[in-house]
Amino acid sequence: MNPYIHLTQPLIFDSHAHYQFDAFDRDRDELLSNLKKDGVCGAVICGSTLENSRAAVALAEKYPNLYAAAGVHPGDVNEAGHFAEFRNELESLLKSPKVVALGEIGLDYHYDGTNRELQAEWLGGQLELAAALKLPVLIHDRDAHADTLAVLKEFKPRGVVHCFSGSPEMAEEVTRLGMYIGLGGSVTFKNAKTQPEVAKRVPIERLLLETDAPYLAPAPFRGKRCDSRHIAITAAKIAEVRGEDVEYILRVTRENARGLFNLTSDFKFLI
Ligand code: NI
Repeated sequence: MNPYIHLTQPLIFDSHAHYQFDAFDRDRDELLSNLKKDGVCGAVICGSTLENSRAAVALAEKYPNLYAAAGVHPGDVNEAGHFAEFRNELESLLKSPKVVALGEIGLDYHYDGTNRELQAEWLGGQLELAAALKLPVLIHDRDAHADTLAVLKEFKPRGVVHCFSGSPEMAEEVTRLGMYIGLGGSVTFKNAKTQPEVAKRVPIERLLLETDAPYLAPAPFRGKRCDSRHIAITAAKIAEVRGEDVEYILRVTRENARGLFNLTSDFKFLI
């Protein structure tokens, strides 16, 4: 049973979680084996380094309703070196059967001292690899809206801008490119201004729900460990601002995820 909402079916699909992270070491198996019972039909476990991408793939191989994404996050490229040295390793990881996307990748200008040139090199290289392998991408954009949008316009990938933090106008440009907008717990935060507006205006067929677990638990659990069950709260907030039914939001976003990640008949069996 989902602790936050009554659901007739496992309607929640979490398009972005990090269940391989240490925060889940103490109860990972218990949590993941109960997800379906708790209303969660599936989740994509995202990598941010090559090492934890490998862990994401290994975890997805253990559970039929978990999928993996492999990629190197802009916050981790400083130590990694040049993309070309790691391309083959990443490519072979991406060919694992449970991998449904390349990510998370992107630009992060939040912290001083990040190497923007190196971030751009990794992002461009990974977008080219995704195109070659026909995989969707999970885009991270923190304080780098203009450059992110320019890169998306140049490469035109399939994919999602996860934990979207840009303006409603940027959201419109992103969806016009055929990409998805990922919204998570931060849409419920008291000081959230643009995200509820984005949630209201984004076409439903371009919306994905996510946690970024263990981070970004929705209010009133902000700061606590987040897991996919919390999406019920995020979806309720989005339903409220849109004036729509929460089950409708969950059902459509689940279908959107199924389409983007190309989840086949075995996924149908799971729901
Ligand atoms: Ni993430």
